[in-house]
Amino acid sequence: MKGVILAGGTGTRLYPLTKVVNKHLLPVGKIPMICHGIEKFKKAGIEEILIVIGKQSAGLYIDLIGSGKEWGVSVTFKVQEEAGGIAQALFLAEPFVTPGEKFVVLLGDNLFEDHLTTFVQAFKQQAVGARVLLKKVHDPKRYGVPVLEKDNIIMIEEKPEEPKSDYCVTGIYMYDSTVFETIRTIKPSARGELEITDVNNVYASKGQLTYDILDGWWTDAGTFQSLYQASGRL
Ligand code: G1P
Repeated sequence: MKGVILAGGTGTRLYPLTKVVNKHLLPVGKIPMICHGIEKFKKAGIEEILIVIGKQSAGLYIDLIGSGKEWGVSVTFKVQEEAGGIAQALFLAEPFVTPGEKFVVLLGDNLFEDHLTTFVQAFKQQAVGARVLLKKVHDPKRYGVPVLEKDNIIMIEEKPEEPKSDYCVTGIYMYDSTVFETIRTIKPSARGELEITDVNNVYASKGQLTYDILDGWWTDAGTFQSLYQASGRL
């Protein structure tokens, strides 16, 4: 299976740390943030990786990661010209994925403890659709929140005022190549972006969105506090 890491975005909540360096290159523990995603993929046997970056720090990504050789993986890069949402960034992966193939997507600022292997195995067995990983959180309002029914997610509400569960949809997603057709069908949201939640809701509405729950700690390191917490754990 192949892996895609989405590392665009401007990181405004971490300004001025992100004034001259892209968020995903900031240190988390002993290595830059982006390298944690590469390590997770490598440990799950995913060695063909596409990293979607913005224009900011593009040269630094090459300096740091190069071809991926040092990590025992093969890395290619794609540049997202302007911030148009997670689904727009994901759409750039279309030529990287062979028709009919399954793949894993990580948001580059999602840092977590669990190994991906068992989740990837479960998705390999899944006949159709998509799979997302959830985490129980105390502040679901900040995230995409799933409405659960047995093994399926029937809907995800993005940053709801009144969350219908205590879970957040993490930035760990599994799709097959049909996702690119799905992205073509969605429209920009009120904030003018192609939202990953809208993509996932297409699968949810067809009863084809499954999930697993992370046991270990998880954070999206987009704020000073979460970046600090993640650094203490890694
Ligand atoms: C994005 C997704 C959201 C998800 C979160 C996880 O939110 O839209 O559904 O819960 O990533 O990190 P954002 O961080 O772009 O606000």
